[in-house]
Amino acid sequence: MTIPFQRLAADADPGVRRAVGRVLASGRFVLGPEVEAFERAFAASIGVAHAVGVASGTDAITLALAAAGIGPGDRVLTAAFSTGYTAIGIRHAGATPVFADVEPGSLCLDAGAAARALEEQEVRAIVPVHIFGGAGAGWGALLEIADRHRVPVIEDACQAHGARASGRALGSFGKAAAFSFYPTKNLGALGDAGLVATADEGLAARVRSLRSGAQGKRHHHLAPGWNSRLDEIQAAVLRERLPALPEGNRRRAALALRYRELLAGLPLRFVTPGPAVEGSSHLFVIRTAPRDALRAHLEAAGIDALVHYPAALTEQPAFSDAAVAGGTCPEAEAAAREVLSLPLHPGLAEREVERVAASVRAFFARGRPTEPVSE
Ligand SMILES: Cc1ncc(COP(=O)(O)O)c(C=O)c1O
Repeated sequence: MTIPFQRLAADADPGVRRAVGRVLASGRFVLGPEVEAFERAFAASIGVAHAVGVASGTDAITLALAAAGIGPGDRVLTAAFSTGYTAIGIRHAGATPVFADVEPGSLCLDAGAAARALEEQEVRAIVPVHIFGGAGAGWGALLEIADRHRVPVIEDACQAHGARASGRALGSFGKAAAFSFYPTKNLGALGDAGLVATADEGLAARVRSLRSGAQGKRHHHLAPGWNSRLDEIQAAVLRERLPALPEGNRRRAALALRYRELLAGLPLRFVTPGPAVEGSSHLFVIRTAPRDALRAHLEAAGIDALVHYPAALTEQPAFSDAAVAGGTCPEAEAAAREVLSLPLHPGLAEREVERVAASVRAFFARGRPTEPVSE
Protein backbone atom coordinates (compact mmCIF):
# COMPACT_ATOMS: atom_id res chain seq x y z
CA MET A 1 0.00 0.00 0.00
CA THR A 2 1.42 3.33 -1.00
CA ILE A 3 1.10 6.49 1.04
CA PRO A 4 0.63 9.39 -1.38
CA PHE A 5 1.77 12.87 -0.41
CA GLN A 6 -1.80 14.14 -0.53
CA ARG A 7 -5.28 12.94 -1.50
CA LEU A 8 -7.05 15.63 -3.51
CA ALA A 9 -9.89 13.80 -5.32
CA ALA A 10 -13.09 15.73 -4.63
CA ASP A 11 -15.74 13.81 -6.58
CA ALA A 12 -17.43 12.59 -3.39
CA ASP A 13 -17.31 15.94 -1.57
CA PRO A 14 -20.92 17.16 -1.17
CA GLY A 15 -19.78 20.77 -0.59
CA VAL A 16 -17.92 20.80 -3.90
CA ARG A 17 -20.93 19.34 -5.71
CA ARG A 18 -23.20 21.96 -4.12
CA ALA A 19 -20.82 24.74 -5.08
CA VAL A 20 -20.41 23.66 -8.67
CA GLY A 21 -24.16 23.07 -9.06
CA ARG A 22 -24.94 26.56 -7.76
CA VAL A 23 -22.60 28.19 -10.26
CA LEU A 24 -23.75 26.08 -13.20
CA ALA A 25 -27.34 27.10 -12.48
CA SER A 26 -26.45 30.77 -12.05
CA GLY A 27 -24.89 31.31 -15.44
CA ARG A 28 -22.38 33.72 -13.82
CA PHE A 29 -18.86 32.34 -14.16
CA VAL A 30 -16.38 35.15 -13.43
CA LEU A 31 -16.33 37.80 -10.65
CA GLY A 32 -19.92 37.37 -9.51
CA PRO A 33 -21.77 36.87 -6.23
CA GLU A 34 -19.74 33.79 -5.19
CA VAL A 35 -16.51 35.77 -5.45
CA GLU A 36 -18.00 38.64 -3.43
CA ALA A 37 -19.33 36.28 -0.75
CA PHE A 38 -16.03 34.42 -0.49
CA GLU A 39 -14.08 37.69 -0.26
CA ARG A 40 -16.27 38.80 2.67
CA ALA A 41 -16.02 35.44 4.44
CA PHE A 42 -12.26 35.16 4.02
CA ALA A 43 -11.63 38.75 5.16
CA ALA A 44 -13.74 38.11 8.29
CA SER A 45 -11.89 34.84 8.97
CA ILE A 46 -8.54 36.64 9.29
CA GLY A 47 -9.88 39.86 10.76
CA VAL A 48 -9.20 42.33 7.94
CA ALA A 49 -11.65 44.70 6.30
CA HIS A 50 -11.01 43.85 2.65
CA ALA A 51 -10.21 40.84 0.51
CA VAL A 52 -9.95 40.83 -3.27
CA GLY A 53 -10.00 37.56 -5.18
CA VAL A 54 -7.49 37.18 -8.01
CA ALA A 55 -6.37 34.40 -10.32
CA SER A 56 -3.43 33.01 -8.27
CA GLY A 57 -1.16 33.57 -5.29
CA THR A 58 1.57 34.80 -7.62
CA ASP A 59 -0.79 37.43 -9.01
CA ALA A 60 -1.83 38.35 -5.46
CA ILE A 61 1.82 39.24 -4.69
CA THR A 62 2.15 41.20 -7.92
CA LEU A 63 -1.11 43.11 -7.60
CA ALA A 64 -0.60 43.88 -3.90
CA LEU A 65 2.83 45.34 -4.70
CA ALA A 66 1.53 47.28 -7.70
CA ALA A 67 -1.37 48.64 -5.66
CA ALA A 68 1.13 49.70 -2.97
CA GLY A 69 2.90 51.78 -5.64
CA ILE A 70 5.81 49.41 -6.26
CA GLY A 71 6.95 49.12 -9.87
CA PRO A 72 9.87 49.21 -12.29
CA GLY A 73 13.12 50.38 -10.73
CA ASP A 74 12.04 49.45 -7.19
CA ARG A 75 13.73 46.86 -5.01
CA VAL A 76 11.75 44.46 -2.88
CA LEU A 77 13.33 42.49 -0.04
CA THR A 78 12.28 38.88 0.41
CA ALA A 79 13.44 35.59 1.93
CA ALA A 80 16.07 33.62 0.03
CA PHE A 81 14.23 30.39 0.82
CA SER A 82 10.83 30.09 -0.87
CA THR A 83 9.10 28.84 -3.97
CA GLY A 84 10.26 30.67 -7.08
CA TYR A 85 6.74 32.11 -7.38
CA THR A 86 7.41 34.58 -4.56
CA ALA A 87 10.17 36.18 -6.61
CA ILE A 88 8.17 35.80 -9.83
CA GLY A 89 5.35 37.75 -8.18
CA ILE A 90 7.82 40.53 -7.35
CA ARG A 91 9.26 40.47 -10.86
CA HIS A 92 5.85 40.70 -12.50
CA ALA A 93 5.25 43.95 -10.63
CA GLY A 94 8.33 45.23 -12.49
CA ALA A 95 10.46 45.29 -9.32
CA THR A 96 13.79 43.60 -8.61
CA PRO A 97 14.04 41.15 -5.71
CA VAL A 98 16.67 41.52 -3.01
CA PHE A 99 17.24 38.24 -1.20
CA ALA A 100 18.17 37.99 2.48
CA ASP A 101 18.91 34.90 4.51
CA VAL A 102 16.48 32.94 6.67
CA GLU A 103 16.40 31.62 10.24
CA PRO A 104 17.68 28.03 10.33
CA GLY A 105 14.83 26.83 12.56
CA SER A 106 11.78 28.27 10.77
CA LEU A 107 13.31 29.07 7.35
CA CYS A 108 11.49 32.41 7.53
CA LEU A 109 13.22 35.72 6.73
CA ASP A 110 15.82 36.44 9.41
CA ALA A 111 15.16 39.78 11.09
CA GLY A 112 18.90 40.53 11.52
CA ALA A 113 19.60 39.79 7.86
CA ALA A 114 16.63 41.96 6.86
CA ALA A 115 17.89 44.83 9.04
CA ARG A 116 21.34 44.63 7.43
CA ALA A 117 19.75 44.53 3.97
CA LEU A 118 17.74 47.67 4.73
CA GLU A 119 20.93 49.47 5.81
CA GLU A 120 22.71 48.33 2.67
CA GLN A 121 20.04 48.70 -0.03
CA GLU A 122 17.27 51.08 -0.93
CA VAL A 123 14.26 48.84 -0.54
CA ARG A 124 10.65 49.92 -1.26
CA ALA A 125 8.81 46.93 0.25
CA ILE A 126 9.40 43.73 2.21
CA VAL A 127 7.73 40.45 1.27
CA PRO A 128 8.31 38.08 4.21
CA VAL A 129 7.29 34.52 3.38
CA HIS A 130 5.26 32.51 5.90
CA ILE A 131 6.96 29.40 4.65
CA PHE A 132 5.18 26.16 5.60
CA GLY A 133 2.73 28.35 7.51
CA GLY A 134 5.18 29.77 10.07
CA ALA A 135 6.41 33.26 10.88
CA GLY A 136 9.74 32.70 12.63
CA ALA A 137 11.29 33.66 15.95
CA GLY A 138 11.99 37.18 14.72
CA TRP A 139 8.54 38.03 13.36
CA GLY A 140 7.90 40.81 15.87
CA ALA A 141 11.40 42.22 15.36
CA LEU A 142 10.98 42.13 11.59
CA LEU A 143 7.75 44.15 11.78
CA GLU A 144 9.47 46.70 14.02
CA ILE A 145 12.41 47.01 11.63
CA ALA A 146 10.06 47.55 8.68
CA ASP A 147 8.19 50.16 10.67
CA ARG A 148 11.39 51.95 11.68
CA HIS A 149 12.50 52.11 8.03
CA ARG A 150 8.94 53.03 6.92
CA VAL A 151 8.93 50.18 4.43
CA PRO A 152 5.57 48.48 3.82
CA VAL A 153 5.26 44.76 4.49
CA ILE A 154 3.37 42.63 1.98
CA GLU A 155 3.06 39.18 3.58
CA ASP A 156 3.41 36.12 1.37
CA ALA A 157 0.76 34.15 3.27
CA CYS A 158 0.26 31.65 0.44
CA GLN A 159 0.97 28.75 2.85
CA ALA A 160 -0.44 30.30 6.01
CA HIS A 161 -4.22 29.86 5.92
CA GLY A 162 -5.49 29.92 9.48
CA ALA A 163 -2.03 30.41 11.05
CA ARG A 164 -1.64 32.88 13.92
CA ALA A 165 1.16 34.75 15.69
CA SER A 166 0.53 36.02 19.22
CA GLY A 167 -3.15 35.22 18.67
CA ARG A 168 -3.50 37.27 15.48
CA ALA A 169 -3.96 35.82 11.99
CA LEU A 170 -0.96 35.76 9.69
CA GLY A 171 -1.95 37.81 6.68
CA SER A 172 -3.40 40.57 8.89
CA PHE A 173 -0.10 42.16 10.00
CA GLY A 174 1.21 43.82 6.86
CA LYS A 175 -0.08 46.55 4.57
CA ALA A 176 -1.45 43.65 2.54
CA ALA A 177 -1.08 39.89 2.26
CA ALA A 178 -1.15 37.44 -0.61
CA PHE A 179 -2.92 34.08 -0.31
CA SER A 180 -2.91 31.18 -2.76
CA PHE A 181 -5.67 28.61 -3.05
CA TYR A 182 -3.75 26.25 -5.29
CA PRO A 183 -5.35 22.80 -4.83
CA THR A 184 -2.65 21.52 -2.46
CA LYS A 185 -2.99 24.39 0.02
CA ASN A 186 -4.74 24.04 3.41
CA LEU A 187 -7.62 25.89 1.76
CA GLY A 188 -7.50 24.72 -1.84
CA ALA A 189 -9.64 25.31 -4.92
CA LEU A 190 -10.15 23.03 -7.91
CA GLY A 191 -7.63 25.02 -9.91
CA ASP A 192 -5.72 28.26 -9.56
CA ALA A 193 -7.04 30.99 -7.28
CA GLY A 194 -5.61 33.69 -5.03
CA LEU A 195 -6.54 36.68 -2.90
CA VAL A 196 -5.16 39.95 -1.58
CA ALA A 197 -6.14 40.75 2.02
CA THR A 198 -5.75 44.25 3.43
CA ALA A 199 -7.10 46.69 5.97
CA ASP A 200 -6.45 49.53 3.50
CA GLU A 201 -9.57 50.48 1.55
CA GLY A 202 -7.65 52.39 -1.12
CA LEU A 203 -5.24 49.52 -1.72
CA ALA A 204 -8.17 47.09 -2.01
CA ALA A 205 -9.86 49.36 -4.55
CA ARG A 206 -6.65 49.56 -6.62
CA VAL A 207 -6.29 45.74 -6.63
CA ARG A 208 -9.94 45.46 -7.71
CA SER A 209 -9.23 47.77 -10.60
CA LEU A 210 -5.87 46.23 -11.56
CA ARG A 211 -7.26 42.67 -11.67
CA SER A 212 -9.70 43.73 -14.40
CA GLY A 213 -7.45 45.64 -16.77
CA ALA A 214 -7.61 48.90 -14.78
CA GLN A 215 -10.87 49.92 -16.37
CA GLY A 216 -12.43 53.21 -15.41
CA LYS A 217 -15.71 53.01 -17.26
CA ARG A 218 -16.40 49.60 -18.80
CA HIS A 219 -14.10 49.00 -21.80
CA HIS A 220 -12.09 52.16 -20.99
CA HIS A 221 -8.65 51.19 -19.67
CA LEU A 222 -6.80 53.79 -17.60
CA ALA A 223 -3.66 51.63 -17.53
CA PRO A 224 -2.77 48.16 -18.85
CA GLY A 225 -3.51 46.55 -15.48
CA TRP A 226 -3.73 42.75 -15.46
CA ASN A 227 -6.28 40.12 -16.33
CA SER A 228 -6.40 38.30 -12.99
CA ARG A 229 -10.06 37.60 -12.37
CA LEU A 230 -11.23 34.91 -9.96
CA ASP A 231 -13.88 32.61 -11.33
CA GLU A 232 -17.14 31.72 -9.66
CA ILE A 233 -16.61 27.96 -9.43
CA GLN A 234 -13.35 28.39 -7.52
CA ALA A 235 -14.89 30.99 -5.20
CA ALA A 236 -17.96 28.82 -4.55
CA VAL A 237 -15.78 25.80 -3.71
CA LEU A 238 -13.60 27.93 -1.41
CA ARG A 239 -16.72 29.30 0.31
CA GLU A 240 -17.92 25.78 1.00
CA ARG A 241 -14.50 24.67 2.28
CA LEU A 242 -13.61 27.71 4.43
CA PRO A 243 -15.63 26.62 7.52
CA ALA A 244 -13.68 23.33 7.67
CA LEU A 245 -10.26 25.06 7.63
CA PRO A 246 -9.80 25.34 11.44
CA GLU A 247 -10.64 21.67 11.97
CA GLY A 248 -8.36 20.63 9.08
CA ASN A 249 -5.53 22.68 10.59
CA ARG A 250 -6.10 21.13 14.05
CA ARG A 251 -5.89 17.68 12.50
CA ARG A 252 -2.67 18.63 10.67
CA ALA A 253 -1.17 19.96 13.91
CA ALA A 254 -2.06 16.76 15.79
CA LEU A 255 -0.46 14.59 13.08
CA ALA A 256 2.62 16.82 13.02
CA LEU A 257 2.96 16.41 16.78
CA ARG A 258 2.70 12.62 16.35
CA TYR A 259 5.49 12.73 13.75
CA ARG A 260 7.65 14.72 16.17
CA GLU A 261 7.09 12.16 18.96
CA LEU A 262 7.84 9.22 16.68
CA LEU A 263 10.94 10.77 15.09
CA ALA A 264 12.51 12.12 18.28
CA GLY A 265 16.19 11.33 18.76
CA LEU A 266 17.04 10.75 15.08
CA PRO A 267 19.77 12.74 13.29
CA LEU A 268 17.28 15.19 11.81
CA ARG A 269 15.73 18.53 12.69
CA PHE A 270 12.15 19.70 12.42
CA VAL A 271 11.35 22.98 10.68
CA THR A 272 9.18 24.84 13.21
CA PRO A 273 6.86 27.87 12.81
CA GLY A 274 8.50 29.95 15.55
CA PRO A 275 7.67 30.60 19.21
CA ALA A 276 4.27 32.21 19.85
CA VAL A 277 3.27 31.07 16.36
CA GLU A 278 0.45 28.64 15.79
CA GLY A 279 1.49 27.61 12.29
CA SER A 280 -0.81 26.20 9.65
CA SER A 281 1.19 22.91 9.53
CA HIS A 282 0.93 23.29 5.77
CA LEU A 283 3.80 20.83 5.34
CA PHE A 284 5.71 18.64 7.78
CA VAL A 285 9.32 19.40 6.93
CA ILE A 286 12.41 17.74 8.35
CA ARG A 287 16.05 18.57 7.67
CA THR A 288 18.70 15.91 7.38
CA ALA A 289 22.03 15.66 5.55
CA PRO A 290 21.27 12.31 3.81
CA ARG A 291 18.01 13.79 2.47
CA ASP A 292 18.20 12.31 -1.02
CA ALA A 293 19.03 8.80 0.26
CA LEU A 294 16.18 9.01 2.77
CA ARG A 295 13.76 10.12 0.07
CA ALA A 296 14.80 7.20 -2.16
CA HIS A 297 14.39 4.81 0.78
CA LEU A 298 10.85 6.12 1.43
CA GLU A 299 9.97 5.92 -2.24
CA ALA A 300 11.07 2.26 -2.34
CA ALA A 301 8.71 1.69 0.62
CA GLY A 302 5.81 3.27 -1.30
CA ILE A 303 5.90 6.56 0.60
CA ASP A 304 5.77 9.86 -1.27
CA ALA A 305 8.06 12.49 0.25
CA LEU A 306 8.72 15.74 -1.63
CA VAL A 307 11.37 18.43 -1.57
CA HIS A 308 10.15 21.98 -0.93
CA TYR A 309 12.45 23.44 -2.25
CA PRO A 310 15.56 21.96 -3.91
CA ALA A 311 17.20 25.33 -4.65
CA ALA A 312 17.32 28.62 -2.78
CA LEU A 313 16.13 31.67 -4.71
CA THR A 314 19.76 32.80 -4.83
CA GLU A 315 20.48 29.66 -6.86
CA GLN A 316 17.70 30.06 -9.44
CA PRO A 317 18.89 31.20 -12.89
CA ALA A 318 15.68 33.24 -13.27
CA PHE A 319 16.83 35.65 -10.55
CA SER A 320 20.55 35.82 -11.25
CA ASP A 321 20.29 39.60 -11.59
CA ALA A 322 18.71 40.00 -8.13
CA ALA A 323 20.69 41.55 -5.30
CA VAL A 324 21.78 39.29 -2.45
CA ALA A 325 21.98 41.06 0.90
CA GLY A 326 25.35 40.45 2.50
CA GLY A 327 26.45 38.75 -0.73
CA THR A 328 25.42 35.26 0.36
CA CYS A 329 22.57 33.34 2.00
CA PRO A 330 24.20 30.20 3.48
CA GLU A 331 21.21 29.17 5.63
CA ALA A 332 18.81 29.17 2.70
CA GLU A 333 21.25 27.27 0.51
CA ALA A 334 21.97 24.66 3.22
CA ALA A 335 18.23 24.20 3.78
CA ALA A 336 17.68 23.51 0.08
CA ARG A 337 20.06 20.51 0.37
CA GLU A 338 18.43 19.13 3.54
CA VAL A 339 14.67 19.69 3.53
CA LEU A 340 12.22 16.84 3.04
CA SER A 341 8.43 17.09 3.37
CA LEU A 342 6.70 13.98 4.73
CA PRO A 343 3.05 13.26 3.84
CA LEU A 344 0.70 15.45 5.88
CA HIS A 345 -2.95 16.27 5.22
CA PRO A 346 -6.15 16.13 7.27
CA GLY A 347 -7.22 12.85 5.67
CA LEU A 348 -3.98 11.06 6.65
CA ALA A 349 -4.56 8.25 9.16
CA GLU A 350 -2.47 8.08 12.33
CA ARG A 351 -1.38 4.57 11.34
CA GLU A 352 -0.01 6.05 8.10
CA VAL A 353 2.04 8.56 10.10
CA GLU A 354 3.30 5.64 12.17
CA ARG A 355 4.27 3.74 9.02
CA VAL A 356 6.12 6.73 7.57
CA ALA A 357 7.92 7.32 10.87
CA ALA A 358 8.85 3.61 11.17
CA SER A 359 10.30 3.73 7.67
CA VAL A 360 12.35 6.85 8.53
CA ARG A 361 13.60 5.10 11.69
CA ALA A 362 14.49 1.98 9.69
CA PHE A 363 16.54 4.14 7.29
CA PHE A 364 18.69 5.52 10.09
CA ALA A 365 18.89 2.15 11.90
CA ARG A 366 20.43 0.49 8.84
CA GLY A 367 23.70 2.32 9.24
CA ARG A 368 22.88 4.91 6.59
CA PRO A 369 24.96 8.06 6.75
CA THR A 370 24.06 9.72 10.03
CA GLU A 371 26.38 12.70 10.02
CA PRO A 372 24.77 15.58 11.90
CA VAL A 373 23.03 18.25 9.87
CA SER A 374 24.76 21.60 9.55
CA GLU A 375 24.17 24.00 12.42
C1 LIG B 1 4.95 30.68 -0.46
C2 LIG B 1 4.22 30.76 -1.77
N1 LIG B 1 4.26 31.91 -2.47
C3 LIG B 1 3.63 32.05 -3.65
C4 LIG B 1 2.93 30.99 -4.20
C5 LIG B 1 2.27 31.18 -5.53
O1 LIG B 1 0.91 30.86 -5.49
P1 LIG B 1 0.18 30.32 -6.81
O2 LIG B 1 0.73 28.96 -7.11
O3 LIG B 1 -1.26 30.28 -6.42
O4 LIG B 1 0.45 31.30 -7.88
C6 LIG B 1 2.87 29.78 -3.52
C7 LIG B 1 2.14 28.61 -4.06
O5 LIG B 1 2.52 28.00 -5.00
C8 LIG B 1 3.54 29.64 -2.29
O6 LIG B 1 3.52 28.50 -1.62
